[in-house]
Amino acid sequence: MPTVKHILEQRLSAQLAAVTGVKAQANVITASRPEFGDYQANGVMAVARQQKTNPRELAQKIVDALLADGPDKEGLVERYEVAGPGFINIFLADKWLDTRLQQLQVNTDALLPDTDRPQSIVVDYSSPNLAKEMHVGHLRGTIIGDCLARVQERLGHHVIRQNHVGDWGTQFGMLITYMQQIMVGNNSLPTALADLESFYRAAKEQFDHDPEFAERARASVVKLQAGAPEYTEIWRRFIEESLRHCEAVYERLRITLTRDDLRPESFYNADLGEIVQLLDDRELLTVSDGARCVFLPEFTGKDDNPLPVIVQKSDGGYLYSTTDLAAIRFRCGTLAADRILYVVDVRQSLHFQQIFAVARRAGLASEACALEHISYGTMMGTDGKPFKTRSGGLVKLIELLDEAERRAFELVTSKNPGLEESRRRHIGRTVGMAAVKYADLSKNRSSDYVFDWSSMLSFEGNTAPYMLYAYARIKSILRKQDGMISVEARLRITAPEERELALKILQFPETVELVARECYPNHLCSALYELAGSFMRFYEACPVLKAEASVRDSRLLLAGITAETLRLGLELLGIETLEQM
Ligand code: ARG
Repeated sequence: MPTVKHILEQRLSAQLAAVTGVKAQANVITASRPEFGDYQANGVMAVARQQKTNPRELAQKIVDALLADGPDKEGLVERYEVAGPGFINIFLADKWLDTRLQQLQVNTDALLPDTDRPQSIVVDYSSPNLAKEMHVGHLRGTIIGDCLARVQERLGHHVIRQNHVGDWGTQFGMLITYMQQIMVGNNSLPTALADLESFYRAAKEQFDHDPEFAERARASVVKLQAGAPEYTEIWRRFIEESLRHCEAVYERLRITLTRDDLRPESFYNADLGEIVQLLDDRELLTVSDGARCVFLPEFTGKDDNPLPVIVQKSDGGYLYSTTDLAAIRFRCGTLAADRILYVVDVRQSLHFQQIFAVARRAGLASEACALEHISYGTMMGTDGKPFKTRSGGLVKLIELLDEAERRAFELVTSKNPGLEESRRRHIGRTVGMAAVKYADLSKNRSSDYVFDWSSMLSFEGNTAPYMLYAYARIKSILRKQDGMISVEARLRITAPEERELALKILQFPETVELVARECYPNHLCSALYELAGSFMRFYEACPVLKAEASVRDSRLLLAGITAETLRLGLELLGIETLEQM
């Protein structure tokens, strides 16, 4: 079943075309104010301007044509109204809303229908550098990427998750050498690796101050790249340990990435020489200071100097960019992607613009494959500076999650001290993780975002605790009435608050489609927040338990669908719900 917006859009666009002879979008959107109806079409004005006719008259002609088609077969529209400079306001029929909701009651899956144009969508997200512990810089990409993957998948797209972890490069020479040293010294390697952050710091410290060590480290890189078993073995051990650290974070946050989704940088090693050769064959390479570069005219820096994409250093080494070019070829070719989403920090946007342009120019990505950098801003502290520990270090993700759980547990305990401890722990875990995720997802990802414990754990406003509480509250209303709803119960909208709620439910899939298209999860949060608000207004204005049986049943049905919609929406955000709070 297509969305209401979709049906209206098709219907009005068809009449617009029939009346004017031009193919144009009627552009149907949710009405901005109740007096403008439920939806409004504002595409008529542009066509009228084009054709130099009066927009209001044209709008009227389209409405007349819609009505001349006879009574609305599905009974969807109550009436059309021409308004302002040439808008068409659309008022939906209550009866249609009743029937549609009744159908959803039987089959909540129908709330979010599959797309009729399924695509293969690669989502590159999380992708931490394995040399270090995951830190707060990886939080946003991991959470936003996972939400987008869930949304696309739920709409019926074939989603291919790609965790493009950094497992290659000179840092690993340093780490291998440091590991070897610990093993010779008979110190326990597992203990040393338990805290990857300190391990990295200690290795770096020695690298910077001990020239002999640095020399060995550089030699290790060469050995590793040449595939010497003593070196690859110990490297593999490090990677394995580091991955285990990542997986602990993923599990806590319910991130859907698995080992199968790993496509580390090293996966592309064997392709890099070929990529450079291919660029050379297409005459895209220039040698500059011994390095092999691609210069594209559209990328210039200061003083209009052309900016290079370096693909091979003078010592023969390849770079981050080379790997990304190999990855694009693999994704467009072998994985047959129609669309690739790179959920990566905004600071890499020049990198991606350049890589996309080079890939197109070199034929590594066909025009049919969409390449999109889904960028996000920096996570800031409440002091307005990038989020750091008190001593100025990077905050380890796992410690941040521990703190979230601890704070949420305290919150639950202060609200509900009588509850059994194991229950409070469970609620604390769920609310803590939900708070971290929801706070991030509910902000426009393009901007920097302030990480603030007190606002994310507040029960007021567009927050996880508010949403989880709204859901649990509806569930508790439904539990009280369990078994009382008659099998013949029918949904019938009478009060305006019921109508508003019904409409919000039916508009939910429109929001999900918008998120799939534009990749801004905050729209989904806003829609759920509004839905919860509509429910609260409905519940205040419309007696449920005290109402006469058929009205009570109708309202309980409406409450049930609201709960299902909230649960589905939160699931798309990767947030687990609580039946009781
Ligand atoms: N590992 C990189 C980093 O931590 C992110 C990789 C993003 N994906 C990509 N295909 N470049 O900055």
